[in-house]
Amino acid sequence: MDGNGRWAKKRLMPRALGHKRGVDTVRTIARAAREMGLEALTLYAFSSENWKRPADEISDLMSLLRAFIRTELDELVRNGTRLKIIGEWQALAPDIVDMIGDALARTAHNRQTTLTIALNYGSQQEIARAAARAAAKGAITVESIEAELDTADLPPLDLIIRTSGEVRLSNFLLWQAAYAEMWFTDVLWPDFTPEHLHDALGQFATRERRFGGR
Ligand code: IPE
Ligand code: MG
Repeated sequence: MDGNGRWAKKRLMPRALGHKRGVDTVRTIARAAREMGLEALTLYAFSSENWKRPADEISDLMSLLRAFIRTELDELVRNGTRLKIIGEWQALAPDIVDMIGDALARTAHNRQTTLTIALNYGSQQEIARAAARAAAKGAITVESIEAELDTADLPPLDLIIRTSGEVRLSNFLLWQAAYAEMWFTDVLWPDFTPEHLHDALGQFATRERRFGGR
């Protein structure tokens, strides 16, 4: 999810408003993905590297996270969404850790779809942690590392979408992206609609995936 800041700047608005509109998009897209029958949707909300941003912006993002959980949790519980968090979320503020713990518990038995939010997430860090755990248990193999990744219980990654014209992965799901399809769009995240998601899925459906075979 990229482009909140530029969306606000274009409108001479504070960045915080761009992030706020970005959260509205999260609501819309999470709902649309579930209605389109997607088994899993993973959103990159806050990276390990985002701590480099100014303190007031980080604080705005954390407040939006609190508000999102507070306002959305009941709907997630009701519509069969299992919430999952990847990244080192236990290092966030204690009240957020409590809210997340409660949200995970309340949605744990849901089976309709999984909404994963990457918080304080960095893929290299995730791989290093997984490799260390795998080593502690025995041999380091592709399978043993994979089994220790934060995403171990998610289906294989099919499609990565990045908005706002940037064409890079920025430490997101590097391992999991090995055979994922990628779709890049200039659309800024607050402007991203279910129609864009639909277009991306349509493109994805036309791709021939050989996974190294032929
Ligand atoms: C993405 O929007 C939102 C988060 C990192 C949470 P940005 O804040 O990166 O927006 P730009 O890149 O400045 O437009
Ligand atoms: Mg950005």
